Amino acid sequence: MAPSGAPLLYQPPAELLGRKIHEVLPSACADYFLNSIQQALLTKKTVKVEYSLPIGEQEVWFEANIASMTENTVVCVARDISERKQMEDQLRQQTENLAQTLQELRQTQAQMIQAEKMSSLGQLVAGVAHEINNPVNFIHGNLSHLEEYTQDLLGIINLYQQLSGNKLEFQALCEEIDLEYIQEDVPRILSSMKVGTQRIRQIVLSLRTFSRIDEAEFKAVDIHESIDSTLMVLQHRFQETTKLPAIQVIKDYGTLPLVECYSGELNQVFMNILANAIDALEEWTIENAQLRIDNLTSGLLTPTIAIRTSVIDSGWVKIAIADNGIGMSEQIQKQVFNPFFTNKPVGKGTGMGMFISYQIITETHGGKLECHSTPAAGTEFVITIPIQH
Ligand SMILES: Nc1ncnc2c1ncn2[C@@H]1O[C@H](COP(=O)(O)OP(=O)(O)OP(=O)(O)O)[C@@H](O)[C@H]1O
Ligand SMILES: [Mg+2]
Repeated sequence: MAPSGAPLLYQPPAELLGRKIHEVLPSACADYFLNSIQQALLTKKTVKVEYSLPIGEQEVWFEANIASMTENTVVCVARDISERKQMEDQLRQQTENLAQTLQELRQTQAQMIQAEKMSSLGQLVAGVAHEINNPVNFIHGNLSHLEEYTQDLLGIINLYQQLSGNKLEFQALCEEIDLEYIQEDVPRILSSMKVGTQRIRQIVLSLRTFSRIDEAEFKAVDIHESIDSTLMVLQHRFQETTKLPAIQVIKDYGTLPLVECYSGELNQVFMNILANAIDALEEWTIENAQLRIDNLTSGLLTPTIAIRTSVIDSGWVKIAIADNGIGMSEQIQKQVFNPFFTNKPVGKGTGMGMFISYQIITETHGGKLECHSTPAAGTEFVITIPIQH
């Protein structure tokens, strides 16, 4: 039992002689030794054991080789391996630190990719919006003049018709081009063109609202405008396809004051939650295609996203986004805000969407982000943020 070369002895040799192992060693250690001795006697092979013993103030590690000598005697040689153990511990610690650093690096990298993606998307959207804005305003502005000039020209034609005393040639031409119809139709065409350009102007405005991605300070923002601009960007995914029925969006907007926030980042949160909701509705529909079709006529299972906003406690606003999609098990729900957690096929999801959204809401805006979900029934994300900072 004497550690060779160790500065301290567990027990002086005289203390050990003639005593049973359980009287000398701590009970767990003694059991371990007895087992190993039995094994050595049984197999006739050298058995290696590692154990620690309290010596003075410290725990000292030993490695012992137990070899059978005769049928009921063994020889045991032990040596102090504390230094090696210490190094192993250090190595384990270093490996853990490295793994942690690696995890942090991957997280930062993914965050940067997401931020970069959003920022490029924002720049692209802003660029497109800018390019469309000028020509559409030009067309829209000129439509009013065109309307006025057309009225004048039609007036002149009318006058000429009266003054010409219905000359035959003129009459023939009028009939040929169906002047009566043109007179009715031109104002209608102009008016529908105006509706069209007005719609494009609204879209451009939404794109501009959505692309306020790089705004680097808190600004008072109309939350409904932000949500609408995000819905606008995702518009194509709400439409009916051969596989999926159209997604219905229900907006239940309360009266909200302007909210101080980073609007670009908040748009990113809306985008992540809405994109997940659409994915969840698609998944549900694919898994339950027949059920959905059977119930569609009754309107029971129309894929729906409901957005509700309200003021709570006067200092806070609440934005709830719910879907009646695939839903989440408790197990998934627990992990939804974890970095890299995804249930989507490789290449589709990075698993960073909700992690980043959680950080934006809690850390950047000092708010709360909660998730309520029932499998096969749907999911609701509830954002609460302070109105002022
Ligand atoms: N509305 C929802 N309904 C059902 N499951 C959801 C919903 N929102 C999130 N989840 C689950 O949480 C997981 C994590 O979502 P998260 O947005 O963080 O990552 P992702 O959508 O998989 O990938 P990405 O980083 O591209 O957004 C999803 O893979 C999905 O399983
Ligand atoms: Mg997502």
